[in-house]
Amino acid sequence: MTAGAISAALRRDSADRIRMANGVRAVAGRRDPAALALRRAVSATVAGRTARPEREDMERIEALRRELAASSLVIERIDHGAGEHEPLAVEAYHGGVTVTQGIGEFCRRSSVGPRWSRLLFHLVREAAPARALEMGTALGISAAYQGAALQRNGRGRLVTIEGSRPLAEIARSNLARLGIDSVDVVEGTFADVLPAVLERLRPLDYAYVDGHHDGRATLDYVEQLLEVMPGPGIVVIDDIGINAGMREAWHAMSRHPRMTFASDLRRLGVCGVG
Ligand SMILES: C[S@@+](CC[C@H](N)C(=O)[O-])C[C@H]1O[C@@H](n2cnc3c(N)ncnc32)[C@H](O)[C@@H]1O
Repeated sequence: MTAGAISAALRRDSADRIRMANGVRAVAGRRDPAALALRRAVSATVAGRTARPEREDMERIEALRRELAASSLVIERIDHGAGEHEPLAVEAYHGGVTVTQGIGEFCRRSSVGPRWSRLLFHLVREAAPARALEMGTALGISAAYQGAALQRNGRGRLVTIEGSRPLAEIARSNLARLGIDSVDVVEGTFADVLPAVLERLRPLDYAYVDGHHDGRATLDYVEQLLEVMPGPGIVVIDDIGINAGMREAWHAMSRHPRMTFASDLRRLGVCGVG
């Protein structure tokens, strides 16, 4: 890494911490379990307060991330909607779009970064969900963080959904290499497999949505999650500011009658469900 790249990374890192610290103001003074879990998770992440065994979990995952980021393997995968700044149109979404991409580039662009991953880890540690869902596995980096946290909790399972077969296979092998057995990778599009996965996870108490960055689709997924989440629970939405549709979806979610709070951490939105 050049000196310029290091100082840019440090600037990004401290900007993320400021975003987290500001965003958590939405739950200041609240005593319900979801709000307390979020406050403690943000505080541990911002302060870099991590006990030694947990730090070792994180270091193992970060070593794997470095390996993936340097990989020259190229795969052909079907993109079912993550898109970049604009989501795929509905017609393209149903069939998916074939993309040829290097694993290294995909890892650098699509996996949630180390600081946000640590926040997810601490959130799962604090909230201690029994039945957790992730939508959008990719290479399994965020699943590894959340799965490692479940293992440290000594209870709870995460089901993570991935629409692309080669990615689902790579994620399974990454999780096995890390010794994480609290995660099941389910292959299929959200539209096809979400209803059955949700039946299996009922009553759901934690969800992390990081896949199809389309505002209307996201709101529809959230309604489906809420049907099997009696509360209290937590819903985390990634990339809430990535495009106009996602910003509108976040706005609607933050006013949803089932949400007890909506904390805008800029990149992630975290809602309490009652
Ligand atoms: C941003 S990446 C997920 C990154 C991952 N959460 C992490 O941080 O390690 C989004 C993933 O969701 C998958 N995806 C997007 N839309 C989908 C859909 N409609 N059905 C199933 N998978 C989808 C993509 O194939 C991609 O691997």
